[in-house]
Amino acid sequence: MKKVEIIGGTWTIGEWHWGRVEEREAIETVEVFLNKYKFVDTAPIYGFGRSEKIIGKVLGNFKRKDIKIMTKFGLNTENGEFFFKTEYKGKKISVYKRADRESIKEECKKSLERLKTDYIDIYLLHFKPSSPSLLNIAETLEELKEEGLIKQWGVCNVNTGDLNILVKNKLKPYCLQFKYNPLFTKPEKSVIPYCRKYKIKFYSYSPFERGLLTGKYNENNFDKEDDRKFLKKEKLEKLKLITEKIKPVALKYNLTIPQFILIYMKTKGIDGIIAGARTKNQAKENIEQFNLNLKKEDIEKAENIFKEFKV
Ligand SMILES: NC(=O)c1ccc[n+]([C@@H]2O[C@H](COP(=O)([O-])OP(=O)(O)OC[C@H]3O[C@@H](n4cnc5c(N)ncnc54)[C@H](OP(=O)(O)O)[C@@H]3O)[C@@H](O)[C@H]2O)c1
Repeated sequence: MKKVEIIGGTWTIGEWHWGRVEEREAIETVEVFLNKYKFVDTAPIYGFGRSEKIIGKVLGNFKRKDIKIMTKFGLNTENGEFFFKTEYKGKKISVYKRADRESIKEECKKSLERLKTDYIDIYLLHFKPSSPSLLNIAETLEELKEEGLIKQWGVCNVNTGDLNILVKNKLKPYCLQFKYNPLFTKPEKSVIPYCRKYKIKFYSYSPFERGLLTGKYNENNFDKEDDRKFLKKEKLEKLKLITEKIKPVALKYNLTIPQFILIYMKTKGIDGIIAGARTKNQAKENIEQFNLNLKKEDIEKAENIFKEFKV
């Protein structure tokens, strides 16, 4: 079977959109990611710098060449193309898309400072702006590569048409980050096959449907700063039902539901799974049994359960 990477997701520890995560817990969660996963995903917008800074606090304790860091650019809170309004710790913030040559170079410098490192392993466009074109953006990224500030570059949240423009112009991205989980399977139609055909790594994000596929939520008791509080009761009940049906299949292997989901996703022809964690214990649990494989009959059983409940 194809080797699938597990990558630690640090959106949660930035707190924005998720509610409080104590600094000590956030640091220890990142330590688990760096120790055991050796690969971490972040972005400047995760906690408006907090997530990258937390990685920067501990990165020095690890051999840099043993660790891969993936971070992003293209969203800022000052200027560019208006994207959305949000709130962080009671403060109203506007988020803009911007990815011209000058801003990419400036953002890269700031990320390197926050991460306390002199290169980024994989640098990704977070969301595509209307201009400049993807080709122009890719040219700037190639410059950063030549300067040694990044090793590889990629894109997030773009379709196969966009990927094709890059591929046809010999500016193939190293990877694509895209939402994909057992309930959100749209990428199976064209995005994943396209990435396989052109050897672009497909890294899936939100494998647990932002924690809702872990089986622990059946009522809406989220923190006031956690935007999962907007979820309708019916959706939570539906997700709880799915996890109850999955539980006996997971128990056959002594797996928890999150562990089962990650192992199940390894069978889907993807290259990596970015699994988020709010605590060090979640981070440890999620990688513990990752090398295990499921029997064909159990993969099919799970597939049928997930099919019944598409979100
Ligand atoms: N490129 C992009 O546009 C993009 C977009 C989204 C995400 N991402 C990346 O992908 C990563 C993962 O996606 P995500 O954070 O959206 O969601 P996710 O991985 O689907 O869910 C993460 C959440 O699930 C819960 N959880 C995880 N493991 C658990 C366990 N063992 N037991 C119980 N609960 C557990 C935790 O939240 P609670 O404890 O609060 O329930 C955790 O924060 C992000 O951190 C980020 O790095 C990228």
